[in-house]
Amino acid sequence: MTKKELLYEGKAKKVYSTEDPDLCIFEYKDDATAFNGIKKGSFEGKGEINNQMANFIFRLLEKRGIRTHMVEELSKRETLVKKVDIIPLEVIVRNIAAGSFSKRYGVEEGTPFAEPTLEYSYKNDELGDPLINDSHALALGIVSKDDLKAIADIAYAVNDALKEIFAKVGIKLVDFKIEVGKTSDGEIVLADEISPDTCRLWDAETNKKLDKDRFRRDLGEFAEVYHEVWARLKDCYK
Ligand code: TMP
Repeated sequence: MTKKELLYEGKAKKVYSTEDPDLCIFEYKDDATAFNGIKKGSFEGKGEINNQMANFIFRLLEKRGIRTHMVEELSKRETLVKKVDIIPLEVIVRNIAAGSFSKRYGVEEGTPFAEPTLEYSYKNDELGDPLINDSHALALGIVSKDDLKAIADIAYAVNDALKEIFAKVGIKLVDFKIEVGKTSDGEIVLADEISPDTCRLWDAETNKKLDKDRFRRDLGEFAEVYHEVWARLKDCYK
């Protein structure tokens, strides 16, 4: 399968069409952005790590019965995926207070929750991805009630699986964002990527941040922690 036309260029990857209308190719870039693209950075090899890590995690999730868009890793930074209509919601699950939750509600970062939380942001760069609730998503016609149920089920299932996957390598899953899409036969599947760009990952012993917050907050060791997480996963699941 080869890349034909550039369909979309996002902040961290390019999406190409292929000769099969139901399949696309992701090409991960080395770029990182934060604050809706205002802050820019990169490190060499980031795209390769995120591509391989996302695929590795998606395979583990598939083994646990979670359907994803993944078809086949084509190279270190390219993956063949099912073409899906992305539902314009960022689906965020939290286990421990951090980031915008801590800021919005004045809760100290690191405060654990008795139960995971689920929230949505409306994916719209012009509006700055505002927080949105179920009834507003229904009013905008983005989703149906059945879609919302399916999305919540996927989000909590991914949380249970990811918590376990990362716990095995000494990492606490603080929170994460996923995206979901509809395949040509109408099934809602996990799409986009799961990587240190889209999760907060803290070392279980020291609480050291092992994710994109190192870039967002200028903490240094941005590249090093991505290599660290990928090395831990590869070593443990060999
Ligand atoms: P937040 O605390 O800034 O709302 O972020 C919650 C989670 O979502 C965190 O793991 C980082 C991730 N995230 C993204 O993947 N993309 C984004 O654009 C934002 C704002 C957060």
